[in-house]
Amino acid sequence: MKALVTGGAGYIGSTICSALEDAGHTPVVIDSLVTGRREFTHGRIFYEADIADAGALQQIFRDHPDIQATIHCAALIVVPESTTMPYEYYRDNVACSLELFKTLKNLGHGRVVFSSSASIYDVVDGFMVTEAAPLKPTSPYARTKYMMEMILRDFCAAYGMQGIALRYFNPIGADPKMRSGIHVKHPTHVVGKLVDTALEKQPYFEITGVDWPTRDGSGIRDYIHVWDLARAHVHAVTGFDAAFERAGQPQDGYLIINLGTGKGVTVFELVQAFERVWGRDIEKRLAPPRPGDIAGSYANADRARDLLGWQAELSIDEGIASALRWGEERHKILKFD
Ligand SMILES: NC(=O)c1ccc[n+]([C@@H]2O[C@H](COP(=O)([O-])OP(=O)(O)OC[C@H]3O[C@@H](n4cnc5c(N)ncnc54)[C@H](O)[C@@H]3O)[C@@H](O)[C@H]2O)c1
Repeated sequence: MKALVTGGAGYIGSTICSALEDAGHTPVVIDSLVTGRREFTHGRIFYEADIADAGALQQIFRDHPDIQATIHCAALIVVPESTTMPYEYYRDNVACSLELFKTLKNLGHGRVVFSSSASIYDVVDGFMVTEAAPLKPTSPYARTKYMMEMILRDFCAAYGMQGIALRYFNPIGADPKMRSGIHVKHPTHVVGKLVDTALEKQPYFEITGVDWPTRDGSGIRDYIHVWDLARAHVHAVTGFDAAFERAGQPQDGYLIINLGTGKGVTVFELVQAFERVWGRDIEKRLAPPRPGDIAGSYANADRARDLLGWQAELSIDEGIASALRWGEERHKILKFD
């Protein structure tokens, strides 16, 4: 089958493209390259365009009328940046997505798998969240994801579209075949920072926040291997109708599904795992939480298993090992290092 992947030149979108290809499917990529990498599109059907460009989308569906679903990954994604550049975040993530959904509706290609985020959840007792857990997006970035979920749900209810919002927890690692991984020069995510510390690109790793009400005081997250995450999208597009059937055909044509491992890991535990895989200790310091930080959450992943027939398979050690390998090898693919 063919699937349109918006943001397919990014970290997750390009890994989804690889997972689709490995399963015998064909991704069609649309990406403006605002943050993504041309290198990740090599050898793929690629349209360099903004998702808000209706003409480009019309061309894509004229060229590929057999596209069966759109996986919508395109977005700006840096949480701290979103607090200083809210206009850019609301424009790119909300206004452009709104136009994308309108064009998909007009073209009669209304099946959408949307990259949402666990960052919209509130903190709950015990830290495990089901899809029905309370929401409290605390940054402009998270609020864009929350808004897009609401917009997609309303579009599905009003226009007969069908949407699956996948709430990603914390993706780590790289494609096991080293076709893609984290592409930014200075990663803002925790495993990227650990890799940079190990590779001496930064002097020490800061554990930010050690007084949270977790088992060891550090923040708790659900680190999911990006390859597992990518595979879940293959399940979502190939089992799209089956997921709705299993969910009892919700009237609004809309599903929300957590994508996580179902295991909470604290930052101290993550650092221990990293040092185990790396085989050496790394330089680390304790620091106060950053503005907007929260204790965290981990997924109840039952719905993904029940509706998509998918479960995370790769361990945190495998995620860390692939991130380290990618950190050492990415200069072979990416040209800035
Ligand atoms: N990385 C994470 O930790 C994480 C966690 C939860 C959810 N997500 C979501 O997953 C998705 C992919 O994230 P990622 O980590 O791969 O980010 P990324 O920055 O690597 O990829 C995003 C891609 O979208 C493209 N893009 C952005 N705006 C566009 C537009 N208007 N038109 C066309 N292309 C555009 C960029 O050029 C880039 O290639 C995002 O929607 C993000 O919110 C990511």
